[in-house]
Amino acid sequence: MKAVAKAHTNIALIKYWGKRNDELILPMNNSLSLTLDHFYTTTEVQFDEALQTDTFIFNGETASDSESAKISSYLDRIRQFAGVQMYAAVRSVNHVPTSAGFASSASGFAALAAASTKALGLDLDRKTLSILARQGSGSACRSVFGGFAEWEKGSRTDGSDSYAVPIMSKTEWDVRVLSVLLESNEKPISSRKGMKRTVETSPFYSGWLEAVDHELKEIKTAIRTKDFERLGKVAEANALKMHATMLGSHPPFTYWQSSTMAVMEEVQHLRDKGIQAYYTIDAGPNVKILCLPEDEQKIRDELENLEMVKGIYGCRPGPGIEYKEKLPSLG
Ligand code: ADP
Ligand code: DP6
Ligand code: CO
Repeated sequence: MKAVAKAHTNIALIKYWGKRNDELILPMNNSLSLTLDHFYTTTEVQFDEALQTDTFIFNGETASDSESAKISSYLDRIRQFAGVQMYAAVRSVNHVPTSAGFASSASGFAALAAASTKALGLDLDRKTLSILARQGSGSACRSVFGGFAEWEKGSRTDGSDSYAVPIMSKTEWDVRVLSVLLESNEKPISSRKGMKRTVETSPFYSGWLEAVDHELKEIKTAIRTKDFERLGKVAEANALKMHATMLGSHPPFTYWQSSTMAVMEEVQHLRDKGIQAYYTIDAGPNVKILCLPEDEQKIRDELENLEMVKGIYGCRPGPGIEYKEKLPSLG
């Protein structure tokens, strides 16, 4: 009745931004991501007849009531899926900043989906696992797979055809992502709230949806042909379009800070000097830089000169869900 699973975060190159169904987490558009080796979550779930309630220990401490309630309502879905009623003790450790635009919800719910179903003795295929992870956090459905993965939005109302599929394994193309830490505080507007406000109020949202299919085709061609320049250009353009929709929302908002724009400008300077570097930004101020292995050190050297840069984490393509024997000790 106990299992441990590890899941890595992923960075979307074509973003998921907007839901057509909030309850089941069904997206408005397909998205495509790269799973990252450096950032991950490990989660242990133990179901127990003797428990009177679910418990959640997060990073070694009892989680807040609101975080525990989120876990509990997610476990309700799993219990319903498995046809059981037992409560569970959950322990999770994030090797990634939480709620800061580093996709902790992706690794967090992918690990929780995998550990909870395994603890109940279910031996699920990746597609089913992706569908279950999606219902915790949309981006989590892509973290079930390593390397490049596409989340197919599907068309059914029950969400049974909305899941991620692998596009290219992690060993096939060594693209690097430098995650530039500018701010690790919790974001004031969660991804969930931000995308909802955008869909409901931004006149630019229809423009976003119109552009995404072409960008998706373009990036899939870039991946298939390993054309890094093509990949970088379309990823950067897609991220900018997503952030543009927020400026049109009511009330308007942005996840960018002045430091975000300083790093964006630096990436442009690097390109002017002939270095192939492109950025993408999620729902947070931090910037992720896409590059090839041979340019990684040069880019690091330039970024280290910027005073607002608090850390640079080098990421390679990472693996999908893995099951473990036990939760690693903290510290
Ligand atoms: P992020 O950029 O980190 O993905 P989000 O606003 O999308 O930010 O999601 C943050 C939320 O993800 C947290 O409030 C929490 O509910 C959930 N989350 C993060 N880590 C975990 C975890 N290890 N297990 C379960 N849920 C998690
Ligand atoms: C900007 O998956 O965190 O990172 O489904 O509401 O939990 P919920 O949102 P989440 O949104 C991710 C938004 C994004 C783009 C992406 O990862 O595709
Ligand atoms: Co998230």
